[in-house]
Amino acid sequence: MQQMWGQIAYFQARFNSELAYASAFDWHTLRGRFFDRNPIDMNSPSPARACGIDFGTSNSTVGWIRPGMETLIALEDGKITLPSVVFFNIEERRPVYGRLALHEYLEGYEGRLMRSLKSLLGSKLIKHDTSVLGTAMPFKDLLGLFIGQLKSRAEATAGREFEEVVLGRPVFFVDDDPMADKEAEDTLVDVARKLGFKEVSFQYEPIAAAFDYESTIEKEELVLIVDIGGGTSDFSLVRLSPERRSVDNRHDDILATGGVHIGGTDFDKQLSLAGMMPLFGYGSRMKSGAYMPTSHHMNLATWHTINSVYSQKSQLALGSMRYDIEDTGGIDRLFKLIEQRAGHWLAMEVEETKIQLTQEDNRHVALDRIEKGLSVDLSRALFESSIDNLLERVRGSVTQLLSDASVGVEQVDTVFFTGGSSGIPALRHSISAMLPNARHVEGNIFGSIGSGLAIEASKRYGY
Ligand SMILES: Nc1ncnc2c1ncn2[C@@H]1O[C@H](COP(=O)(O)OP(=O)(O)OP(=O)(O)O)[C@@H](O)[C@H]1O
Ligand SMILES: [Mg+2]
Repeated sequence: MQQMWGQIAYFQARFNSELAYASAFDWHTLRGRFFDRNPIDMNSPSPARACGIDFGTSNSTVGWIRPGMETLIALEDGKITLPSVVFFNIEERRPVYGRLALHEYLEGYEGRLMRSLKSLLGSKLIKHDTSVLGTAMPFKDLLGLFIGQLKSRAEATAGREFEEVVLGRPVFFVDDDPMADKEAEDTLVDVARKLGFKEVSFQYEPIAAAFDYESTIEKEELVLIVDIGGGTSDFSLVRLSPERRSVDNRHDDILATGGVHIGGTDFDKQLSLAGMMPLFGYGSRMKSGAYMPTSHHMNLATWHTINSVYSQKSQLALGSMRYDIEDTGGIDRLFKLIEQRAGHWLAMEVEETKIQLTQEDNRHVALDRIEKGLSVDLSRALFESSIDNLLERVRGSVTQLLSDASVGVEQVDTVFFTGGSSGIPALRHSISAMLPNARHVEGNIFGSIGSGLAIEASKRYGY
């Protein structure tokens, strides 16, 4: 019980700080705008009203099967992804989404940037409200705001209203807690129904990716699907073949599914702790010889807890600690960062560096914004060593999956990679090395799941 309230308090703090800035909005107006259904021109020749939605931790897509046309629907500036980001712009008194949200945040508009809404699912907080302009706003409705955007943007492009949806879900919303996992799924059903979907069903994200891959193969294969996204690593071991594409019930072809809560945001955190936080005093020695407490830097390296480092309590604690620190260069820099509220900016630099290190051996990061002339070189080798333990857990999850399916490593014909984090070379190599006979296929790292969900939607609801 105590643990549960601890978790609630944690998420409450996390999202209250995000929402404090949303209070300038009239929540009921927003609600009306995004939860009421828009009448849309129904004169389209195809009767299909079913789509697939991949609501991701970092990016989302919507797919719709239309013969002879691209499956994924353009959601922002002709692009098929909408970054799962909401920015409550105070000056203009409106929420904005996706790339535009990131742009306005980086341009310095006053407001609050919210990311990783998917992590609300499976937390106890999802049942709670938060106060917006003295009005209670359920956290659940925050999800509704973003998923409502996916629906309305897809409908505007498609010129039709979608009534049925297959939503993707990770293999585990919550590790080792089936009740919380079920609640997470139920929450998504409620949100989708409120948005106007009459039929709502689910497919595991890696299975959806498998169906997308199956649409391209010419013979039967035993395939390990590896989907490493922003929040989770999801796997499925599936038997795929051109002949079986049209079979409705594929239960027997799904040999096992598994996953673990490790994704791109965890890799960002490790890179930050290994390469960036030491500049800001992480690992400093106290005069006693002990290391400085790590909690402030942990918070600064984690997107959702960055605001807590700006709190008066945290600053007072750091202030009194300073007198006991041997070399104060790092902590003084930390104070500059706090003064400039540059934590989210720094986190974005770290993420960008991680992405660059997929191609490059090194990245030079200029930090003049925090201190003139300050910079750091971050290498791929440093990044790889920082995520070593996480990769071991990811490999452990694959081993478990193969054992669940009683399949030997040499039996896997193909390993299919999807999800943004599958771009990390060390991660790919470490999984590939486990499967001596498997050929490696790279899917559309941001689109495979949305496409697979659309295939599933057309099978379940017709097109
Ligand atoms: N080239 C790259 N190398 C390494 N990581 C990358 C690359 N491109 C994107 N990423 C990371 O991929 C993640 C986003 O991937 P993706 O869009 O597949 O996640 P998601 O579907 O939103 O998350 P999830 O499926 O876990 O809910 C982010 O953490 C991003 O930093
Ligand atoms: Mg994903």
